[in-house]
Amino acid sequence: MKKIGVLTSGGDAPGMNAAIRAVVRTACVNGIEVYGIKRGYNGLMNGDLEQMTLRSVSDIIHRGGTMLYSARSPEFKTEEGMQRAIDVCHSRGIEGVVVIGGDGSFRGARDLSLRGIPCIGLPGTIDNDIACCDYTIGYDTCMNTIMQMVDRVRDTSESHDRCSVIEVMGRSAGYLALNSGIAVGATSILIPEIEYDIERDVIERMRRTQKTGKRHFIIIVAEGIGGVEELAKRIEKETSVETRAVVLGHVQRGGSPTSRDRVVASQMGYAAVKLLMQGIGNRVVAMQKDQIVDYDIFEALQMSKTINSELYKIAYDISI
Ligand code: ADP
Ligand code: F6P
Repeated sequence: MKKIGVLTSGGDAPGMNAAIRAVVRTACVNGIEVYGIKRGYNGLMNGDLEQMTLRSVSDIIHRGGTMLYSARSPEFKTEEGMQRAIDVCHSRGIEGVVVIGGDGSFRGARDLSLRGIPCIGLPGTIDNDIACCDYTIGYDTCMNTIMQMVDRVRDTSESHDRCSVIEVMGRSAGYLALNSGIAVGATSILIPEIEYDIERDVIERMRRTQKTGKRHFIIIVAEGIGGVEELAKRIEKETSVETRAVVLGHVQRGGSPTSRDRVVASQMGYAAVKLLMQGIGNRVVAMQKDQIVDYDIFEALQMSKTINSELYKIAYDISI
């Protein structure tokens, strides 16, 4: 392979820049021309790409966001959109593409691979919801951001003897909520993967800790459950504890990537180019048990990821 492209797609994630850097540098040192494709699949359909060099990716490893910009592109899902992207690859001589994004982005990468443009998917999403991967680029930074933000909320919650009900991102997945809930010492964690009952899992738990002298409370709610304003009102009514709702929002997606995100993104970017160099496409590079592995994209999309129910039990047992 002599010419490849790299794009970022779907919701951005801290560490995407480190992955782009690794892809560009690995390609360059192996004599492969590399093109940065702007705004995900939109750039591929519209021919918005430019050649990158060793120096194009200087000073980006520590930056959040993505220097290639990102987008969700419904047009790419159509036959016409897909054909336009393939035509651009042919006319510009792009022989393979590294796609950094989530599940939806991998579907696009699979479809392109099946149509003769080998693609490698790299898991880039704060949600950590990609089945074949223990870990996704951006998750660690996001976890740390949530922790820092909730620690700040805790300060004021404690000063006022309040309960704070905090919604964290994760689309329909509860990995961020469960793990951050443990990291901030939440009294209660509500996630879509585990059945819950507000009376039993929130109100009763608050009463249980009140008996041991606790006067302020953190409740973490996954985005997939939502309704934090209503929940805050109900808690206040039933417990007489003054309660505030907080939606952390997009602050969770930004910021300088942690060391873990930078290292994993670099490993994955390197692995992606090594696969393309062997003419291999239609693979997702993943991290499993701290090892870099790769899966057929179709197989990866069929897999399902379970929540660690032991973690949930630990959270319950020690939030007393
Ligand atoms: P994420 O990949 O972060 O989950 P999206 O689901 O929005 O984000 O998908 C990102 C990109 O993947 C979009 O540009 C969209 O066009 C493309 N995509 C999503 N689903 C498909 C599909 N079934 N076939 C082809 N492309 C898809
Ligand atoms: O997939 C990443 C994510 O931040 C989800 O956690 C969230 O549901 C979604 O993207 C938000 O998307 P948008 O940036 O379009 O509001």
